[in-house]
Amino acid sequence: MAKASKNIAEQNLTAPEHVAIIMDGNGRWAKKRFLPRTAGHVQGSRTAEQICEDAYDLGIKYLTIYAFSTENWARPESEVSALMDLLRKYMKDSIERSSKNNMRVRVIGDISRLDDDLRKSILRLEEATKNNTGLNFQVAINYGGRDEIVRAVRTICEEAVSGKLSPQQIDEELISSHLDTCGIPYPDLLIRTSGEYRTSNFLPWQLAYSEFYFTDVLWPDFNKEELKKAIEYYNSRDRRFGGVK
Ligand code: FPP
Repeated sequence: MAKASKNIAEQNLTAPEHVAIIMDGNGRWAKKRFLPRTAGHVQGSRTAEQICEDAYDLGIKYLTIYAFSTENWARPESEVSALMDLLRKYMKDSIERSSKNNMRVRVIGDISRLDDDLRKSILRLEEATKNNTGLNFQVAINYGGRDEIVRAVRTICEEAVSGKLSPQQIDEELISSHLDTCGIPYPDLLIRTSGEYRTSNFLPWQLAYSEFYFTDVLWPDFNKEELKKAIEYYNSRDRRFGGVK
């Protein structure tokens, strides 16, 4: 686990090294204000940007957010396109922002289905930030945990068929290294907002031993105080990883 940062050290708390977030409740946030659902996503993307700064300030080294799932294509076309526009804007704006705040941005998910321009800005941003040493920020786009495992299995089979590896070499480490999250530690803590209690195909392999924190707060209202509450909860847990203490 990462060392606690100054602010939470005062409470003797340890920051989780990696936090994953399912940012739920944008639609309900907008509905409560008689706004279109897309307004909720706009506010949600602002919250995501702010939470990156807050997370790093609290001592978190890796943050992974679920921005668009493989199932989200089933939403109305206007909503899908509003979300893609937001992601497009995020990738462009982030090049400058990341060079200021030293953040490394990576995208997980199958980006081959995304529009050419979005895919290119993702690759440009990943390349531009690859040597940054601040927060490691992963954005899941067209991500589905089962799809990620299918893609990994396919690659492993191709390597086996071509003679690059033998079936005996397939172990947890090898599978892990073929996932989109290769090189990134597993999340210590998963946060889901808006009062839903499920993981919705988000990081099923990686979350096997993570702590789960659910809050009724809608994602656009989530802030540093709420993140601190999640860290407090995390610190109250006794992680045994299947063993005894
Ligand atoms: C779930 O809320 C949220 C999403 C499916 C999209 C999350 C995307 C963003 C916050 C914007 C993109 C992020 C960045 C970094 C640019 P919901 O629509 O399912 O809410 P509801 O359950 O209240 O309807």
